[in-house]
Amino acid sequence: MNNGLLNKVFTGAFALFVLFIISGGISHASSGGTSHDSNTSEEVNSYDVSRENAFMQPTGEFTVLGDFAINNTLAVKVSDQSPEIAGKEITTTMFIKDGKYYINTIGPDWEFHNYEISYVIGINRRQNYLALFPNGAIHVLPAQWDIEQSKWIMNYGLDKNYPGSGNFWSDDARIWQFKCGGCHSTGMQINYDKASHSFSTTFASLGIGCESCHGPGSSHIKAARYNFDKEKETIVNPAKLPWRLRAGICGQCHNWGASTARVTPYRDGFPERYSYPYGFKVGKPLNLFYVNEPVDDKLHHQQYNEWNASAHAEAGIMCTTCHGVHQAGLHKNPHKAQTKFIADSLCTNCHKTTKKKAAHRILS
Ligand code: HEC
Ligand code: HEC
Ligand code: HEC
Ligand code: HEC
Ligand code: HEC
Repeated sequence: MNNGLLNKVFTGAFALFVLFIISGGISHASSGGTSHDSNTSEEVNSYDVSRENAFMQPTGEFTVLGDFAINNTLAVKVSDQSPEIAGKEITTTMFIKDGKYYINTIGPDWEFHNYEISYVIGINRRQNYLALFPNGAIHVLPAQWDIEQSKWIMNYGLDKNYPGSGNFWSDDARIWQFKCGGCHSTGMQINYDKASHSFSTTFASLGIGCESCHGPGSSHIKAARYNFDKEKETIVNPAKLPWRLRAGICGQCHNWGASTARVTPYRDGFPERYSYPYGFKVGKPLNLFYVNEPVDDKLHHQQYNEWNASAHAEAGIMCTTCHGVHQAGLHKNPHKAQTKFIADSLCTNCHKTTKKKAAHRILS
């Protein structure tokens, strides 16, 4: 394609883009990256069954990417703070037996155990492995796979922590239900029973389902759309929300901070607050549920904090101005950012010159 033609394509796309900003919302972004007309028949077409199905395919999330066969050990020098084995070298081993995946490492009692992997998170940059403890608590095992560098690295393990220190992977303060679950599963109910110190946690699925962004009942959305006009009213359509509330939908997860709610029932050693906006309801102001606590290190999921402090937030340029939400795979098997327009045209639609790398770090 020559540049002239490219320019025409982008100008066309830009015209559509502006139209949608004026009409107060952006409709479904197709995998092709252009917005759809907002007339009804076009919308229905854009929601054709095949695309919908593609979005709901089982995820790659459950695929183990780490090396459990050859480069399957991780040796680290134990933290000097450790009261028992400071300075020793300890080796964690990843292996497969009878089709099941295990990590052999030191647990809460300072002994080595084989922890079977029950769940997997991550498909892009790094992958975490989760173990279900006998009392129903889920813990993130201390060896994580760095996908880009193809190697094992420690995560809340003996290099910096030790059992009981409060930040060791198997400590109560690191329980997945409090630290991670709200952003990495849909419809989680923690169900902690203090008397027996046990969890009977349920969730609809690992990963991001329709309900995360449309509120409960979204499984009915398709039926509602095609059959029952009234049921439509029960579901949150983010496109109809004021823009800040709309950005809050993404901000419930693409954010760094703590819940306003305290962890209850509370037990000594638990974190005081959830790491996600516990109790958040789509369409409600995020700040009722979450206190932003951006950190300086480049940690994951801080896009909302960065955006919130940017000129774009002030000007009402939301996440969904630049990102599609339903592209095949975005939250199932996401591949790098998935913005609505390719490369620099995303920015040059509105700016004469700019670098897309600056998208979230506008003030820095
Ligand atoms: C406030 C919401 C939130 C919390 C809490 C949270 N995450 Fe995430 N996590 C995200 C978002 C959003 C992304 C994707 C965006 C990014 O990586 O910047 C992500 C990405 C990841 C990835 C990388 C996925 C990939 O494909 O590369 C892993 C692994 C992960 N999280 C594990 C965890 C673990 C383990 C915890 C708990 C200790 C946790 N997260 C807590 C929101 C959260
Ligand atoms: C990551 C958040 C997110 C997820 C997950 C998500 N949606 Fe959406 N959805 C949105 C947003 C935001 C809009 C508003 C349009 C826009 O901004 O692109 C929307 C709009 C819609 C609309 C159009 C409503 C209208 O009247 O135009 C339908 C239908 C829909 N989503 C169905 C679904 C279904 C079904 C699922 C699950 C398979 C789903 N969505 C998952 C965020 C999400
Ligand atoms: C002005 C356009 C724009 C806005 C507004 C915007 N983004 Fe982005 N986003 C981008 C671009 C461009 C990239 C790719 C950056 C790159 O290639 O390095 C990106 C990358 C990302 C990534 C991939 C990981 C990363 O940090 O690079 C995530 C996740 C993300 N955006 C989420 C969000 C969320 C959530 C919001 C709203 C709070 C948002 N974005 C607002 C343009 C935007
Ligand atoms: C319920 C939590 C949740 C919500 C709500 C949510 N996201 Fe995400 N998002 C995630 C997680 C987790 C990942 C990483 C998935 C993985 O790698 O396994 C992700 C991945 C992404 C990516 C790809 C990041 C990359 O690594 O390149 C983009 C872009 C993105 N989200 C944008 C959005 C936008 C825009 C919204 C709002 C319409 C939104 N998200 C709402 C949790 C969420
Ligand atoms: C929908 C239109 C729109 C798009 C798309 C857009 N911007 Fe912006 N941008 C604005 C507006 C409006 C402002 C605030 C007013 C101003 O400074 O011009 C702004 C401000 C900025 C600023 C801050 C300027 C300052 O003085 O503080 C930077 C940097 C920036 N944008 C970069 C980007 C990048 C990078 C992209 C592409 C990823 C992008 N913008 C995409 C509309 C847009």
